[in-house]
Amino acid sequence: MYTQKVINIFKYPRNAGGLHGANGIGKAIDNSCGDLIKIYLKVNEEGVIEEAKFKTFGCTASIASSSMICDMIKGLTIEEAQEITGGDVLEELGGLPVEKVHCCALAEESLHKAIEDYFKRLEKEQKKLEE
Ligand code: FES
Repeated sequence: MYTQKVINIFKYPRNAGGLHGANGIGKAIDNSCGDLIKIYLKVNEEGVIEEAKFKTFGCTASIASSSMICDMIKGLTIEEAQEITGGDVLEELGGLPVEKVHCCALAEESLHKAIEDYFKRLEKEQKKLEE
């Protein structure tokens, strides 16, 4: 059974959609269920996440987890966001049915890939400046 909070977020997700000018994009797929979560980050020059959005093809819990993780990381530094885990998302959602707990882990994986992508882009830019 989903909590009312999860159902509400699923019905009215925040942060849904792509993000123009994103400088960190991550995608994670769970091969067992086929759900996909893509997270877009816009990180400013101070390394603070100004905006976070998601596109998710999946179950109620993966959509709720995506929406929640985006809410949780907005305003955090990229280093702080790296510390966010699927367990934190699960707690913020007020729990999920046991067979849906992996949806939070998928949101975490997608976020970490977006952060990785951000650092790769940053490194590329810095190399360009050094040339
Ligand atoms: Fe697998 Fe939601 S059922 S991520």
